[in-house]
Amino acid sequence: MKLPYNIYLIGFMGTGKSTVSQYLAKYFAMETVEMDQEIAQREGKSIPEIFAEQGEEYFRNLETKLLVQLEKRENTVVSCGGGTPLRQCNVDIMKRTGKIVLLLADAETILERVKDSHDRPLLENNKSTEFIQSMLDKRMGIYRKAADFVISTDGKKIDEICNELIQKINSK
Ligand code: S3P
Repeated sequence: MKLPYNIYLIGFMGTGKSTVSQYLAKYFAMETVEMDQEIAQREGKSIPEIFAEQGEEYFRNLETKLLVQLEKRENTVVSCGGGTPLRQCNVDIMKRTGKIVLLLADAETILERVKDSHDRPLLENNKSTEFIQSMLDKRMGIYRKAADFVISTDGKKIDEICNELIQKINSK
């Protein structure tokens, strides 16, 4: 499979974007870019360090800059940061250059997946289903409006999620 466009995985933190992108890269011979990882590497700092030292706005500008650069690629699965679709200009770039796939998970599932990690500044000291649910409520309209396809990940294995994704993409 070689797609003449990119697949952008969006969704809340802990919905499995990175895992899905790695699987697609391995089994469907696609290239992959993990936005947080790429930004951290370029800045020579972790995401929490960037947030603490330069602030969220600076980080959001780096996300937009990276997306602009990814426009030129194709057959690439881009694992976006959870906040990437919050800027309409980012959604515009993704729409123009690929298909946007929204991954969903319940607040309980998300908490379980993120509870032991410390690389997400917005969840640090906020690890509860109530907080996650309140952020989900604020963001879900934006996520759904941006998405070409929606895939629920709760209780599914990685191969089921990826096969569903490929099927949806091929059927359009
Ligand atoms: C964020 C999600 C994170 C990272 C940053 C902000 C967000 O990415 O970009 O901590 O605003 O939802 P992941 O969704 O890959 O964890």
